[in-house]
Amino acid sequence: MTISAVRGTFLDFVDDPWKHVGDEQAAVRFFADGLLVVDDGIIVDFGAYDEIGSRHEGVDTTVITDRIIVPGFVDGHIHLPQTRVLGAYGEQLLPWLQKSVFPEERKYADREYAQEGTRHFFDNLLASGTTTFQAFTSSAPVCTEELFEEASRRNMRAIAGITAIDQNAPDWFTISPQDYYAAATEQIERYHRKGRNLYAITPRFAFGATTELLETCQRLKQENPDLWVHTHISENPAEIRGVLDLHPDCTDYLGMYEKFGLVGPKFTGGHGVWLSDDEFRRISESGAAVTFCPCSNLFLGSGLFRLGKATDPEHRVRLTFGTDMGGGNRFSMINVLEDAYKVGMLNNCMLDGSLIPSQQNLAESERNKLSPFRGFWSITQGGAEALYIDEFVGNFDIGKEADFVVLDWTAGPPAVAWHASLLAEQGGPQTVEQAGELLFSIMMVSDERAVDETWVMGRRAYRKA
Ligand code: GUN
Ligand code: ZN
Repeated sequence: MTISAVRGTFLDFVDDPWKHVGDEQAAVRFFADGLLVVDDGIIVDFGAYDEIGSRHEGVDTTVITDRIIVPGFVDGHIHLPQTRVLGAYGEQLLPWLQKSVFPEERKYADREYAQEGTRHFFDNLLASGTTTFQAFTSSAPVCTEELFEEASRRNMRAIAGITAIDQNAPDWFTISPQDYYAAATEQIERYHRKGRNLYAITPRFAFGATTELLETCQRLKQENPDLWVHTHISENPAEIRGVLDLHPDCTDYLGMYEKFGLVGPKFTGGHGVWLSDDEFRRISESGAAVTFCPCSNLFLGSGLFRLGKATDPEHRVRLTFGTDMGGGNRFSMINVLEDAYKVGMLNNCMLDGSLIPSQQNLAESERNKLSPFRGFWSITQGGAEALYIDEFVGNFDIGKEADFVVLDWTAGPPAVAWHASLLAEQGGPQTVEQAGELLFSIMMVSDERAVDETWVMGRRAYRKA
């Protein structure tokens, strides 16, 4: 008998809150006293305790009080071998890669170092409430092997692949298209769809890829249409100029990935800070996704992602949110929401007509505002949909994998507890509005210290000391 249950206060999403402007609660599912029933890691029942409790009498039940339980967080863009160099001082993207990133990632060709770094990486993810991620590794096959081995041991859902680069990096860091093809082919066979592992063709970025390498990626996708494709796009102006110099036949950055047949469902481009309206439209029509990485975009000075444009209902772009750790200086998706909110507010101000009234766009301006429901949807079900893994994770629908996070709204910096007591005077949230207020408090006043427990496939994988 492997059935067990968790009783507590649950909140998840059944729709995209951006589709319900003015009535976002229509996208939310909330049970002040709920029950989640799990069989062998899979959700087999979920609902109000009053309604479904009698069906599960006698089931081994963990009762969690004074907490909000939400689906495990999805980090759509993170770099495993940058675990030790997050928060490096003083550079924009291209010099930062040369100075801080490539020398550190080089160490992950050594298995022992890769194992040590990988352990730190997974410990940090679980302590941050992240149960699903799409990651870059390094150009050494060892790094990707260690990622999938550790993900399997921890039973976490991971999307990753060798991170290929064959130009604009030191010789000791590049991989040839031939070696990349051979190693990726072997790894696809060994890891793809084994347990919870999914494989991604991962050209690091267009600036670091020769035509031959991109043709190799195209070949891999043609030979394995089920694979994911993960890369960077339009992050930094110097990078974009470099890409357009390398590919003068392309009018924009996206066109370069389109040229090699990589853009479509299961393609994710990280950052997209400088995407044009037309690129957003083409991404939307293709079914591809973009990752909003606000911690990194601010930390590396890359720019302000146009959230209100990406969420335009006319050309809605699938979005994941990501830490981009170590370009992002945090592991926590809660910090990502904090910075995303601030970026949204800056865009909101620019478009509200206060500076140039003729450029006022109130609908786009409003879509930049990251309400708690928009935010938590984006790092759970929204992220899962963008990555085409919502059949597995994202919310508490029956049949999905039971990954969830137990949030303590009183935990965090010293200011949090008294602040939150204003919002939760009668103990825990009784209504969706109260739950939303507490979630907003968590994203703006707290951080990963709000993560009390992280559960993976129905088992507790992390508990705060
Ligand atoms: N573009 C190419 N490589 C990287 C990386 O490691 N981090 C970020 N933020 N952008 C990149
Ligand atoms: Zn990145």
